[in-house]
Order: sequence, then structure tokens, then C-alpha cells
Amino acid sequence: MSNKKYSTETILSVHHWNDTLFSFKATRDPGLRFENGQFVMIGMEVDGLPLTRAYSIASPNYEEHLEFFSIKVPNGPLTSRLQHLKVGDPLLVSRKPTGTLVTHDLKPGKNLYFFSTGTGLAPFMSLIQDIEVYDRFEKVVLIHGVRYVNELAYADFISQELPNNEFFGEEVKNKLIYYPTVTREPFRNQGRLTDLVESGKLFEDIGLPPLNPETDRAMICGSPAMLKDTAHMLDTRGFKVSPRIGELGDYVIEKAFVEK
Ligand code: A2P
Repeated sequence: MSNKKYSTETILSVHHWNDTLFSFKATRDPGLRFENGQFVMIGMEVDGLPLTRAYSIASPNYEEHLEFFSIKVPNGPLTSRLQHLKVGDPLLVSRKPTGTLVTHDLKPGKNLYFFSTGTGLAPFMSLIQDIEVYDRFEKVVLIHGVRYVNELAYADFISQELPNNEFFGEEVKNKLIYYPTVTREPFRNQGRLTDLVESGKLFEDIGLPPLNPETDRAMICGSPAMLKDTAHMLDTRGFKVSPRIGELGDYVIEKAFVEK
């Protein structure tokens, strides 16, 4: 059903991380332009009509394909179908990407923090592969909070593959700090990211000073409760949110699109 709103793409690969999380790659319409961190509507045709939801694009904008990272919601109208995707299946992709998680809405700064939980990691997978992010910031800190260790999707890619990227591996080695944290079973980093910031444990572990609106910028993506608490944490420290797309702030925020 390629039309003005959607192009019909083709699934190239599917990866199941565990019982609840999977990711998939699809072809990309050559006309689709997006900024790293943005989302599109994706989905499938059901009974002749498009059934779509917002998904952050997890791949960087210079890749030929598109990648998405999804939860499997039991009985979720879309994800209960998407999780059965196979190579060669069609995927509807909207032609107008948008979203608030774009670095050009951040004031200049020294350290950039990506605060994510669950599938809120997706937009940051795109952004940690964006060379401009490394040009603009001295340190890029990716915090990914999950309940269980097996939800740390992309951990090997981030810590093993990215530092060896032939184009920007050196930047990653020097600048990217990956901080996965788990709340419901033992792991090397434990606790909610909000608690790790409050207690100062995060900064002890990564060797950076506590959050400071003079030097630090942030992007947040997670559940509504996580967004509220993380934004509040930044607000109380004097950070100012970008009020809308196109306006500068110390941080930007976007809901991870769940309940699909
Ligand atoms: P917890 O296990 O203590 O609830 P979820 O799957 O519910 O979105 O949670 C993903 C991760 O985000 C979990 O580690 C969860 O911790 C954490 N989390 C949930 N709510 C918040 C919040 N309000 N602030 C910070 N982290 C949160």
C-alpha cells in the first residue's frame, strides 16, 4: 500500500533478544531523509488498512537500511503481529520522520548524557553512531536502565563493535561511556538511573563531575514515569528543557513508544 503517507519496505533481518524484545532491519526508501534521534510511524496492513505506531529509528541516517527496536506487548495490536515478521515481509514506513530528540535543539556543552530505559535506547543507538555528536561533545554518556540483564540489547555492539568502527572507532574509544544498569537482579551496575544520579554513584563510576547545567546536556527517552522523574531531577539542578522542536534547551525529552 505505498501511498503519499507510507512507503512499503521489505524486512531484511529480525533478531530476537529475549522473550520480550526484538529488533529488525528493513529497506529504506531512497527519498527518506531523517535526523538521528527522530521517529517514524511503522506497521503493517491489516484488513486493508494501515496499523501503525511511532518507532524511533535505531540506525544512523547514513545507513542504507532502517533498524527498529521493539518490545513484544502480549495482545498488543501491532507488536503481537510485528514479532512474527520474517525476512521478505512488507513493512509500512511513514514518509515524514519527526521528533524532539535531535542534537541541534541542545545548547553547546561539554558532556552529553543519554538517559534511557527499556526500548528508550533506540534513538540513542542512532545518535551514538553519529559522528557530529562526537564532534560537538567531549564525552558522550549512554545510560541504559533495564530490569533484567537479558534486556541489555545491543550491549555487545556498543562495547565491542562500535569502538572498532573503521570511521569513528577512535572517537568512540575516547568519548563514549556506556553505562548499563539493572534493577531486578545482580549486575556490575545496579539501581535506577535516577537513584544513581542522586547518590552520585554514577559519577564516581564514570569519573565525571556531578550534573551541571553549565557544562552538561541531556536527552531522555523512557517510560512516562521515568521521563517525569528524570526531567524533574534535571529541573531541580537548573537544567532548562527545550520547549519545542527548533528551540534550544539544556535537555530534550521523548516518550519511548510502548503499549503497542
Ligand atoms: P524498576 O525495576 O525499579 O522498576 P520498565 O520496563 O518498567 O520501563 O523499566 C525499565 C527500567 O526502568 C527498570 O530498570 C525500572 O526500574 C526503571 N524505571 C522504571 N520507572 C522508573 C523511573 N520512574 N525512574 C527511573 N527508572 C525507572
